[in-house]
Amino acid sequence: MNITGNTILITGGTSGIGKALAEALHARQNKVIIAGRRQQLLDQVTAANPGMIGLQLDVDDKGSIEQFAAQVQRQFPELNVLINNAGIMRAEDYTAEKVDVATAEATLTTNISSVVRLTAALLPTLKAQPKATLMATTSGLAHVPMAAFPTYSGTKAFLHAWLEAVRFQLRNTNVEVLELTPPYVQTDLTGSHQANDPRAMPLDEFITEVMQILESGNTPKGEILVERVKPLRWAEKNGSYEQLLTALGSQ
Ligand SMILES: NC(=O)c1ccc[n+]([C@@H]2O[C@H](COP(=O)([O-])OP(=O)(O)OC[C@H]3O[C@@H](n4cnc5c(N)ncnc54)[C@H](OP(=O)(O)O)[C@@H]3O)[C@@H](O)[C@H]2O)c1
Repeated sequence: MNITGNTILITGGTSGIGKALAEALHARQNKVIIAGRRQQLLDQVTAANPGMIGLQLDVDDKGSIEQFAAQVQRQFPELNVLINNAGIMRAEDYTAEKVDVATAEATLTTNISSVVRLTAALLPTLKAQPKATLMATTSGLAHVPMAAFPTYSGTKAFLHAWLEAVRFQLRNTNVEVLELTPPYVQTDLTGSHQANDPRAMPLDEFITEVMQILESGNTPKGEILVERVKPLRWAEKNGSYEQLLTALGSQ
């Protein structure tokens, strides 16, 4: 992916990784459109980054995605980068007498269905450009699940496999497929404690390393892997899978 001169849509651009990535890409002379539900945050982020555009979107709403994609195609026919980054992470307890299936279903909708729907809706626009990038944010937990978050971990494993398959299908087209695989990063994903958890990677350090990787083009097999996520990414290969599964399960 060229690091400047793109028109980029980032979902989940109102906070955390999406917001920080949007700001880093905005600073490198890209036209950046952020999407999210919270209008106040869209306004705040775009006001702080003149030229950035904010569009309201609830990715859980199938009808909204279609309308939204049509609007993006009309307003930004030059769109050449889609970053599917919006996501939720909620704990589930399968030892409980009654498992809360609603949590699993909500996670599947936000983390999987929305990505598939928005990608399908905007791929024609990406394919129409000389050079385009489709990206999604997965997680190190795609490779070693965290027991407290079964469906979340599963959605990220799904996205990893889905991206690999889509990348293969698109291998002879102008659309490059990238996977951003964060480690545990200081954001509000699971609540405000995460943003201050010293065990999590500081957000600015994560984004700095991601931008260095993008600038260097060091994305073997389309994966953007910062150093901190490599133990999870390669756990199976390194023989540390069981140990990490147990360690994550005990947290
Ligand atoms: N932080 C980590 O440790 C970590 C690790 C691995 C992977 N990730 C992944 O990184 C991505 C970003 O997470 P984050 O850590 O930056 O957490 P975050 O600060 O909570 O960001 C989540 C973003 O997703 C958006 N979102 C959630 N539900 C949405 C919906 N229904 N419609 C539209 N937007 C929605 C939120 O925007 P609105 O609320 O404004 O809609 C928000 O901008 C997620 O996919 C997450 O799974 C994070």
